[in-house]
Amino acid sequence: MDDKALPSILHVDSSVRRTDNSTARYNSISKGLAKGFISTWNTERPDDEVIYRDVGISPPDFMSEAWIAAAFTPESKRTSEQARALELSDLLIKEIRQADIILISAPMYNYGLPAALKAWFDQVIRVNETFSFDLARGDFPLEPIMAKKTLVLVSSSGEFGFEPGGIREAMNHLGPHIKVMSKYLGVETFHEVRAEYQEFGDERHAQSVSNAKLALAQLAQGLAANHQDTLEISSAH
Ligand SMILES: Cc1cc2nc3c(=O)[nH]c(=O)nc-3n(C[C@H](O)[C@H](O)[C@H](O)COP(=O)(O)O)c2cc1C
Repeated sequence: MDDKALPSILHVDSSVRRTDNSTARYNSISKGLAKGFISTWNTERPDDEVIYRDVGISPPDFMSEAWIAAAFTPESKRTSEQARALELSDLLIKEIRQADIILISAPMYNYGLPAALKAWFDQVIRVNETFSFDLARGDFPLEPIMAKKTLVLVSSSGEFGFEPGGIREAMNHLGPHIKVMSKYLGVETFHEVRAEYQEFGDERHAQSVSNAKLALAQLAQGLAANHQDTLEISSAH
């Protein structure tokens, strides 16, 4: 098996909370759950590389007018200042290129994704790098450049009922927004595992977190096994 055959996971956390607070209930639920996914994956496939970013603790820069001008200037014509303006974006996109699986953990803040995670998406969804734009395609001129990636989204919310058909489905601008954006990173398979009820702190919350833990362990096992099959098939050719 060559190096390319080893899948990389890009793990992006985005809560502003940590997981090592002296009072456990202050710890980030989404980060804790994502850690569980990675630990199951590591048990199944210990040689895989995991690239880690915590955008909650180290938020990426917001886009600027200079960033947009640089991104829309062909690479060969960029000034050194423009190239510098895109350095972070280049690095973050490289991490996505390497990854077969993108694991994102996200708290729900004001019914959507954290601003730092949106800043990360704004840095990585970039013309001629992660999507192409062609008016010859008619009303849908954007197409992703990469393909076949899997996104696992682990979300945590204080309220509940954000799932399809749930009582707050229409208020959920977290998972649906991330799903739409992730297409332009080459994501073709999307999984979301939610922990809800944090603000109630009751039995429903404990149950929801425990269900999420189990679902993520099963998902990690299933995806790791699928990867094994894919690798065996591709190395047999
Ligand atoms: C600033 C802020 C805004 C929040 N907004 C919402 C919200 O709109 N809906 C909701 O259900 N929970 C909301 N919550 C609760 C969080 O989603 C919940 O605490 C979650 O567990 C945070 O993720 P974490 O535990 O990974 O840090 C909010 C919490 C904070 C701190």
